[in-house]
Amino acid sequence: MKYTCLNPIASVGLDQFTEGYEKTEKMEDADAVLVRSAAMHDLELPDGLYAVARAGAGVNNIPLDKCAEKGIVVFNTPGANANGVKELVIAGMLLASRDIIGGVEWAKSEAGSEDIAKKAEKEKKKFAGCELMGKKLGIIGLGAIGIQVANVAECLGMDVYGYDPYISVDAAWKLSRAVKHAATLDDIYANCDYITLHVPLTDETRGFINAETIAKMKNSVRILNFARGELVNTGDIINALADGKVAAYATDFLKDELIDATGVITIPHLGASTPESEDNCAVMAVDELKDLSLIHI
Ligand code: MLT
Repeated sequence: MKYTCLNPIASVGLDQFTEGYEKTEKMEDADAVLVRSAAMHDLELPDGLYAVARAGAGVNNIPLDKCAEKGIVVFNTPGANANGVKELVIAGMLLASRDIIGGVEWAKSEAGSEDIAKKAEKEKKKFAGCELMGKKLGIIGLGAIGIQVANVAECLGMDVYGYDPYISVDAAWKLSRAVKHAATLDDIYANCDYITLHVPLTDETRGFINAETIAKMKNSVRILNFARGELVNTGDIINALADGKVAAYATDFLKDELIDATGVITIPHLGASTPESEDNCAVMAVDELKDLSLIHI
């Protein structure tokens, strides 16, 4: 099997390609492609290509219809980076609750000033916030990441509601029994103080957080989006933050309009950017290609 990498893929995975596997720099020669975030929609898919493995969960950068037409198998690596993303979601929830970033920036701006500790005691109320314990968290999407967020949030003392009409039996087994079942999205919108999104980007989910759905939410709701930027209508979330309906929006996806908007915490897609997640994804993606190469004739 000849494979090519459209993005850097961790060597712990690639090292598993031993005898019988060869790396090529040319996509036109490849039987298989390994990809992380490179957009493949405009790429010519060579006739000999029979597999694409995405080292990550989302597959919106891959032309699934085109691949299906050409009989190209597409893999992702569900769960391989779930811990990395889960940890950043929890950080996002804390950053959305207390103005830690504002406080740190203030402290830096005071570098060298006299009696800083005394000044801090006077100023700190500007950066105060609330605790997570006892707050209601709504999780939309209970896949590998959603269930891990649910279980940790429950350990932090939050009252956790999960919505997922497609939940797998396996995912349900892993979920803390304390997590409550939200039968509809409206139940999440009407009741939750924090809402976190863990669904893939599809035509059905694109922009589903918008003026209409935000209007159904509690005042001062905090929204977390570590799944895909396009799930949220940017103009609508900025307006909702400006009029105080939404207290904070933490997202792992940058957009120019969001960077300086009030109440937005923008993180540059760091969810799975840890050596642990990158290694896990690379190993799973290479395993998938190797398994397929054994049966591919
Ligand atoms: C994913 O789809 O798994 C995440 O967006 C992480 C990533 O690709 O960096």
